[in-house]
Amino acid sequence: MIGIFDSGVGGLTVASAIHQLAPRADILYFGDLANAPFGSKSSDELFCITMHAMQFLRSKGATEIVAACNSVSVSVIRPMTKAFGIQGTHVIEMVEPAARSLAKLNPKKILVIATEATVRSGIYLETFSVYGLKAEMMAIPKLATAIEEGESTDVIEQMIFPVVQQVIASKADTLVFGCTHYPFARPIFEKLFAEQNHPIRFFDPSIAVAEETIRMFDTKGSGLRKFFVSKSSSVFENAVQTFFGKSGVVEVLENSILQQ
Ligand code: DGL
Repeated sequence: MIGIFDSGVGGLTVASAIHQLAPRADILYFGDLANAPFGSKSSDELFCITMHAMQFLRSKGATEIVAACNSVSVSVIRPMTKAFGIQGTHVIEMVEPAARSLAKLNPKKILVIATEATVRSGIYLETFSVYGLKAEMMAIPKLATAIEEGESTDVIEQMIFPVVQQVIASKADTLVFGCTHYPFARPIFEKLFAEQNHPIRFFDPSIAVAEETIRMFDTKGSGLRKFFVSKSSSVFENAVQTFFGKSGVVEVLENSILQQ
């Protein structure tokens, strides 16, 4: 059984991509809304959050884990696998599959947009350079929260507009969603780039991560899907319904020990 976690709706983009490619995969999803946003947390806080999430998923029967969160991938999973000299056999993170898949597209210049924690770690740029990818990063501090809270298009447009300016200034031809929440705002990104008449390729790592999951993990289950959150949210419930229809029942954990 595959356990997937994030701070909220973001990792659903990864869960949905796995479901599309392997409908029989057994999935347990945990959205730790009580601890959201992850992107403004320190590495130590993210370590505790990750341990809690993984222990919880394991207690529910997960044997393999996908960290469907870039902030956790770069602050906890990658440093740990690096320290022990192993590529996580039971934990898949976001960055390495993204870099490998992106390298096949031969981008000229990449702009990665992400949370503060992801930008701070420098791991995206380090990994991309191993694959010969030329990239720069930009943090959008409150965008994940705005998406999580179902903010209006106007508010999100204002947050995204500097990204369009940065893409134009840096002559990037590829924009990477370095936070799993950001693909939810893709139509707004598309609209703003179209208004500027500026061509851009969007790259969503969730597909590469889903492909890696299918390659590495057992996805021949019975199509079981369970969703847990540490705080109730109608935005989360609606997103689950959109991706998974009626089978997407969300359980809210009361008095969760996961709350810090
Ligand atoms: N979706 C997560 C990421 O990819 C975390 C966003 C947040 O909670 O700040 O980084």
